[in-house]
Amino acid sequence: MRSVIDVLDLSVEELDELIKTALDIIDNPEKYAHVCDGKKLATLFFEPSTRTRMSFEAAMYELGGHVISMSEAGSSSAAKGESVADTAKTVSCYTDIIAMRHPKEGAPLVASLNASVPVINAGDGGHNHPTQTLADLLTIYREKGSFENLTIGFCGDLKFGRTVHSLINALSRYGNNKMILISPEELKLPSYVKKDVLQKNRIPYEQTTDLVGAMPKLDILYMTRVQRERFFNEEDYLRLKDSYILDVKKLENAKEDLCIMHPLPRVNEISIAIDDDPRACYFKQVLNGKYMRMALILKLLKEAGTI
Ligand code: NCD
Repeated sequence: MRSVIDVLDLSVEELDELIKTALDIIDNPEKYAHVCDGKKLATLFFEPSTRTRMSFEAAMYELGGHVISMSEAGSSSAAKGESVADTAKTVSCYTDIIAMRHPKEGAPLVASLNASVPVINAGDGGHNHPTQTLADLLTIYREKGSFENLTIGFCGDLKFGRTVHSLINALSRYGNNKMILISPEELKLPSYVKKDVLQKNRIPYEQTTDLVGAMPKLDILYMTRVQRERFFNEEDYLRLKDSYILDVKKLENAKEDLCIMHPLPRVNEISIAIDDDPRACYFKQVLNGKYMRMALILKLLKEAGTI
């Protein structure tokens, strides 16, 4: 049974195909309005979410399907001590596909090994978030027309930010990109990502604490929230939470066609004064996420022979 746990579970050709499908859905929504009639998606969210869960649900409804949802870890049998494996076996009896978010790295993988339907990782701890990457890739494609020859700045919590890890993995497979990793010392990109992804793929990168210094070089600036829920102590979080606040002044030396991204939710990282700047792309990402999740649900249900 084909599941998507890591963005690397999808080949570059499959990513291209998903983007093509998403663009076709945008142009011809009526063509897709009944392709999943009578089918069910289960959203199992053991961590808070607005966009990911609701966009999965909206995606399934727009394909004609139904949704069953568990959005509160405390309201499920996980609170009684049920294992992820048993939960996956159980939910497989009720649904055709599962989207799962969990605070423990690897939990969606365990679910996929036990489920009899496809499982999509909707975020596992500080590890991966492949469907946010799909949203990010469609946004980059629509803004820049390509995934090559780009200088991408990742700014904020690069240690715990799972969206950053997944997007770096995805972009490392395309040609001639450069990455600038902008973070406080304590929140630098984990060395396993640097070694296994950036160095292995010979991606040129630099690490800095200086956002303003990096700004003129950037084609894309990917801002992130400091991941409070992954900190061991609140004092460290309070000290680091406002390390980077993007405001109008910091954009003075930015390129005219900079693409400003953020997976959201935003806390303080981007001043709301920037929301009306044509370079602000973070609400476009939200919408693109729904289309890419539609494309992914379609692909996995087709491969499973469900539709
Ligand atoms: C992200 C996540 O859950 O990792 N949110 C999202 O899915 N759009 C980013 C975050 O929570 O900071």
